[in-house]
Amino acid sequence: MDTPIVATAQDTAPPAVERVPVTFEINGKTQSFEVEAWTTLLDLLREHCHLTGTKKGCDHGQCGACTAIVGGQRINTCLALAAVRDGASITTIEGLAQGDSLHPVQQAFIDHDAFQCGYCTPGQICSAVAMLDEGRVKSKDDIRELMSGNLCRCGAYVNIVAAILEVANRAGSGRQSQGARS
Ligand code: FES
Ligand code: FES
Repeated sequence: MDTPIVATAQDTAPPAVERVPVTFEINGKTQSFEVEAWTTLLDLLREHCHLTGTKKGCDHGQCGACTAIVGGQRINTCLALAAVRDGASITTIEGLAQGDSLHPVQQAFIDHDAFQCGYCTPGQICSAVAMLDEGRVKSKDDIRELMSGNLCRCGAYVNIVAAILEVANRAGSGRQSQGARS
């Protein structure tokens, strides 16, 4: 008769999870972490840094709620692995204001009532800030096109565009264009 196979504690223990050391400059502060290989930047920001302004909407790269500025570019942080982005400089919605002074885009969103529930708003604002830095906005249509990755389920698009347009015009991003005013 065969000897019964008995599982030992060692056999049944889950395999040890290897962690990856990563370092980021987040909102101007250098911080180091040990993360699992599959940890996204979104989860790093929300769960390791408690920067919950960056929202998890779809978690599939389709809504833009998780947009932050990484290495000067707006990205969907739900699609970016922290281990791959090791060393990057990250700006989240919490890092845009200077002390008590809101970033001009934040102020414009308030002035134009450019939100309802507010869930998409941090992503909209981070996306708009980086988009304006790209210097490609010449018209309302440009804003609509270049912000098309940021969805708003409340449908506040008209006011969002108006807010961004005001900052674009003030900053001169749409300086050569009459179209930026129409
Ligand atoms: S949560 Fe990242 S795109 Fe929707
Ligand atoms: S303000 Fe509610 S989803 Fe945009």
